[in-house]
Amino acid sequence: MSGRPRLTVFGTGYLGTAHAACLASLGFEVLGVDVDAARVSALQAGTLPFYESGLEPLLRAGLRSGRLSFTTSYPAAAEFGDVHFICVGTPQRPGSGGADLSQFEACFAGLAPLLRRPCLVVGKSTVPPGTVVAYSQRLPATAPAGPGAELAWNPEFLREGHAVDDTLRPDRIVAGVWSDRAEAALRAVYAEPLAAGVPFLVTDPATAEMVKVAANAFLATKISFINAMAEVCEVTGADVLSLADALGRDRRIGADGMRPGLGFGGGCLPKDIRALASRAAELGAGEALEFLHEIDAINQRRRTHVVDLAREAAGGRLVGRRVGVLGVAFKPGSDDIRDSPALEVAARIRALGARVAVFDPAAMDRARKVHPELDYAGSVLGAARDADALLVLTEWPEFSAADPGVLAKTVARRAIVDARHVLDADVWRSFGWDYHAPGRPAPGAPGALPGRAAGVRPRQAEPPAAAVSFLAAAV
Ligand code: UDX
Repeated sequence: MSGRPRLTVFGTGYLGTAHAACLASLGFEVLGVDVDAARVSALQAGTLPFYESGLEPLLRAGLRSGRLSFTTSYPAAAEFGDVHFICVGTPQRPGSGGADLSQFEACFAGLAPLLRRPCLVVGKSTVPPGTVVAYSQRLPATAPAGPGAELAWNPEFLREGHAVDDTLRPDRIVAGVWSDRAEAALRAVYAEPLAAGVPFLVTDPATAEMVKVAANAFLATKISFINAMAEVCEVTGADVLSLADALGRDRRIGADGMRPGLGFGGGCLPKDIRALASRAAELGAGEALEFLHEIDAINQRRRTHVVDLAREAAGGRLVGRRVGVLGVAFKPGSDDIRDSPALEVAARIRALGARVAVFDPAAMDRARKVHPELDYAGSVLGAARDADALLVLTEWPEFSAADPGVLAKTVARRAIVDARHVLDADVWRSFGWDYHAPGRPAPGAPGALPGRAAGVRPRQAEPPAAAVSFLAAAV
């Protein structure tokens, strides 16, 4: 290939669409490919089939520039591209912890026999260890271009809600390559971020594939670690927020990705740790990753605990109660409800006999399709109306900005569960709210000193006078 490579991106989900639109914004000619004709037409018309902040303007700019387009045609894509990125989904296999690689296999099997000239096929989908070596062997054997068609691995670390930034300005680019030619092609694709100082880490493809699953396993572990500490805080009267703050200031630990609360969900972390543990077991290294089952179990327990907090907040029972739920997306900035802790908690509370009214700024339509038994409110106030307990389950900024004084007049009982720690407990209590949050002590919880609520610390800037005289006496 000479000059600027022409790029294709197979799979137009969060990853593929962000990748295609971002590369077009860097000046490349990009062809997005998907087997879903309706999705391709929507994208070609400039409409994103999901919500992702900042991506739709980039998509439209790419289409307008003429550099970005979409097709369902594999032959057209094979003819067009010098570098083919595979970004299709690898969901959890039903009934097992393993990954379902059928979309990846279909994409590879559809594309490889059409590759007639030298090109690079780059895997970006998250796959369990061992996948890349097998496909690397198959590609030259299947493609008419023979050894001219080569596989490389270039994992993606983007977070939903930050897809554009994470694609254009990632913390690092990992290039798993078998040859200098493949490295040069990937350096050409990422020339602009590299010039801006983004680290470019060259590894063998098997290591690149491992980097992604290990990174997600570590991120999940960090979240479950702090949530396990929250469980201990709950029985000792300690405060997990202060604990996380103090731990995060140790540079070896770091505060990022260690927010306690309702735990992780979404289309990546839960299924990726299961797929990794499952593949490790198949390869005879199951013992090494036994702990990931515990990480998963801690994460699931958070959901049960928040249901328990909701029951407590609603006065000890859920049957016949009205519960308002703020948030059903698995995280803010996204309309994704895949394995959403918020939606699961809402549905469980409904199944336990409460009427549940939910509100989410982006994920209502998706949630309604899966859980029609919930009531869908048009606003925060609508969800809170006549509620016996109000729950914040996704940390959208509009929920932390909610006015406790206004909401106090809307609900039946002033009881709030802040499952994501986004509200100021003191402010809400000052408006008469009974405030509950996982890992934070309730007044009178074990650990309280007589006459003082657990976890409530004196707020003086100076040491209290009594402490000073006590120290003086000691000297
Ligand atoms: C994740 C990885 O971050 C990303 O690198 C990878 O490419 C795909 O998987 P994503 O699923 O978009 O990205 O979301 P992330 O921001 O990591 O959050 C995942 C879940 O963990 C969310 O449910 C979020 O609410 C929860 N979370 C995250 C916490 O509970 N605490 C935290 O500190 C961080």
